[in-house]
Amino acid sequence: MSMNRLLSLHLTCLVIVSVFLLLAVAGHRLLAQEAAGADAEGLVLNGDAAAGKAVYRKHCVSCHGERGDGRGPEAEQLYPPPRNYQDPGVMAKLTDEFIYTIIKDGGGAVGKSAQMESWSEILSDREIRDVGAFIRTFAKTSEQDE
Ligand code: HEC
Repeated sequence: MSMNRLLSLHLTCLVIVSVFLLLAVAGHRLLAQEAAGADAEGLVLNGDAAAGKAVYRKHCVSCHGERGDGRGPEAEQLYPPPRNYQDPGVMAKLTDEFIYTIIKDGGGAVGKSAQMESWSEILSDREIRDVGAFIRTFAKTSEQDE
């Protein structure tokens, strides 16, 4: 076998091994992401629902309702009305990324009603994540409590 041929064989092996390594790393990251409950888009709210409750009571109840059913005192003036967070089917369709973005940047940023305002100047990133996590608890607690 010539030196050149040996070298090219060597290189081919190296390429094959690299591709396998890359696939293994990519696969591992994908699995890790799934384990962390990540959305396809990747953002995970990862908030503290207990802390989010105070934020919700202060800023969100007027429209979204004390119990998260979308029937706050101001809800009649809203079209389309906010969704019912007690419904697990409704919540399953909302990704963490969507919840985060609509709270931070408002309905207009995600093609929804601008009556849902942007909260980025009032709430910190942490508060947005916390209140987002809290919203998810309505579907869970309403199943357990009632
Ligand atoms: C002035 C009324 C109002 C207030 C206050 C308000 N929202 Fe909304 N929000 C809406 C409306 C209306 C929609 C529905 C927009 C649409 O579907 O086009 C909405 C939509 C949302 C959605 C998307 C899912 C859904 O319900 O349709 C999230 C998440 C949300 N709001 C979170 C919050 C949080 C958290 C707060 C408090 C920080 C808050 N909102 C305060 C009116 C409000």
